[in-house]
Amino acid sequence: MLIQIPPSSACREHEVTPESIYLSRRRLLAAAGGLAAMAALPGHAQDPSAYPDVEAAKSPAWFDEKLAGTRWQAVTPGNEAVTPFQDATHYNNFYEFGTNKGDPARNAGQLQIEPWTVRIEGEVGKPGTYSIEDLVKPHGLEERIYRLRCVEAWSMVIPWVGFPLADLLKRVEPTSKAKYVSFETRLAPEEMTGVRSGFSLIDWPYIEGLRLDEAMHPLTILAVGMYGRILPNQNGAPLRLVVPWKYGFKSIKSIVRISLVSEQPATTWQSIAAEEYGFYSNVNPEVDHPRWSQAHERRLPSGLFSPNIVPTRMFNGYDEVASLYTGLDLRKNY
Ligand code: MTE
Repeated sequence: MLIQIPPSSACREHEVTPESIYLSRRRLLAAAGGLAAMAALPGHAQDPSAYPDVEAAKSPAWFDEKLAGTRWQAVTPGNEAVTPFQDATHYNNFYEFGTNKGDPARNAGQLQIEPWTVRIEGEVGKPGTYSIEDLVKPHGLEERIYRLRCVEAWSMVIPWVGFPLADLLKRVEPTSKAKYVSFETRLAPEEMTGVRSGFSLIDWPYIEGLRLDEAMHPLTILAVGMYGRILPNQNGAPLRLVVPWKYGFKSIKSIVRISLVSEQPATTWQSIAAEEYGFYSNVNPEVDHPRWSQAHERRLPSGLFSPNIVPTRMFNGYDEVASLYTGLDLRKNY
């Protein structure tokens, strides 16, 4: 599906600073100890030189075949640097593998991702269990550079490779009773040290949900790759949700079940602390978390002595989703 890139978040390829340039700019800044203007150059998922600092990985044939035809569909405004791959893959939240930011990179290698199946069920005309290959086969891949804003007030800019969730949902033919979509992460305690530890408050498996119209919005994607390569396990291989205008915890990883349902699903973080984590969880600088402000965010990389603090934008800057919430009190429906 060719999406219409909406004006508010539209950008052209050459307006995004690729990771390689970002890294060299940081080195230059460090060396010069001052400001240096660098031209932004294009990045392409198909062009390995676009992300030279990326750790190579063996990827399955279904991914390699698709990657060659990836289409550019960036939707992050210009002059924002892509977060270095090292940060995006070593500062993670994936509680199944531990609660420290470095735990997923250390432990998610245990996750068995081959073979992988996804069950699609509930209020659909065509329920079924699909291998990851069959699930992705009908879809052209797109590269989407999106901001990811965590509820913990840090953020990154990540070049995802994926396809619109709407395309998949249309294929399975939602019935008129389908009002919400619920997603479930694989649960395999023998592979997941965080699940085994018993320290977590989470009632596994990790569950997330969207209203059907949010799920059908063209910005909502299912990602299978990032930085022009297959998704690393710690980032949610082989299939994760990316909803760029919502706090990062909505972007559930390593999905094994997608259910179309008539009632709002009980989601993991809402079940733990409903007054802190709402079902909507739209990025909103005016509605603070009960324990911290949401007005600003720490854009990674951001060190103690070189903090990179930027203002948080309504809907994470993706204003084109505002019409989904017309008439809804966003303070009450946080
Ligand atoms: N999905 C699962 N299954 N388990 C998790 O703990 N953490 C969420 C989300 N998806 C999480 C998850 C949170 S809190 C965030 S901010 C993002 O993943 C982080 O994605 P990243 O590690 O790829 O940056």
